[in-house]
Amino acid sequence: MMSFLVVHRISHTYFTEKTAITALDNVSLSIEKGEFVSFLGPSGCGKTTLLSIIASLIQPTEGTVMLEGEKIHSIHPSVGYMLQQDYLFPWKTIQENLFLGLKIMGIDTAERRKNALSLLERIGLQGTEHYYPQQLSGGMRQRAALVRTLATDPKILLLDEPFSALDYQTKLKLEELVWQTLKDYGKTALLVTHDIGEAIAMSDRIFLFSAKPGRLVRTFLVPGELRQLSPLDARKHPLFSELFQFLWKELDSLETAK
Ligand SMILES: Nc1ncnc2c1ncn2[C@@H]1O[C@H](COP(=O)(O)OP(=O)(O)O)[C@@H](O)[C@H]1O
Ligand SMILES: [Mg+2]
Repeated sequence: MMSFLVVHRISHTYFTEKTAITALDNVSLSIEKGEFVSFLGPSGCGKTTLLSIIASLIQPTEGTVMLEGEKIHSIHPSVGYMLQQDYLFPWKTIQENLFLGLKIMGIDTAERRKNALSLLERIGLQGTEHYYPQQLSGGMRQRAALVRTLATDPKILLLDEPFSALDYQTKLKLEELVWQTLKDYGKTALLVTHDIGEAIAMSDRIFLFSAKPGRLVRTFLVPGELRQLSPLDARKHPLFSELFQFLWKELDSLETAK
């Protein structure tokens, strides 16, 4: 049976007037329904490029992406995208931002609106409906952005370093909240990160990338003992630091191999 998401022989080169930068070189991988996976690798290894290709924001030079057996070739409500910056419109209230997300996807119904507002409450942002984004903290804005992403009921969530601009404590809390929310809704998720601990704490599987050109070098299955734990609890487990050391060495050897 075909996997939920299949990335097949993706290569991508950015052409500028004077240069050609190969951001991705022949990347193939697949993800199963309900899995939480991470793309881990140094800055510049093509993580954002790959996510943008999966989201159809850019067309790859070569290769295909299939979601549930169908080729993805345009921006689609099945794919939700969450970025490091929240991209909430500053001149719109939180509620207006949520509804706009539905409108852009062409699914702005009364039921979806109601669902978006209950998601907002669920994520602990009740009472902020009529606030403007700048009235909220960074962590709250990222939570609102998560609600906007979830409100369209995507089949897969693409998270591009959504916690990296936050202070450490907020980041840990948000990891927990996002993990729990996605588990509760049974969502498939793909997290991009350069943070080893975050990848281990949150994911079922980790895809390790190297840079210049971006290549998938290895795939790690996170041990079952850690997978079933929430990120905060996973960080306290003895296996966590073991796996951390291991991945640290792997990443380090990729760096020094150059
Ligand atoms: N729009 C672009 N034009 C030219 N080069 C780009 C563009 N976007 C990314 N790159 C280059 O492609 C490579 C991969 O970038 P990116 O996907 O952003 O990596 P990551 O997200 O892992 O940091 C880098 O060398 C980067 O400089
Ligand atoms: Mg990036």
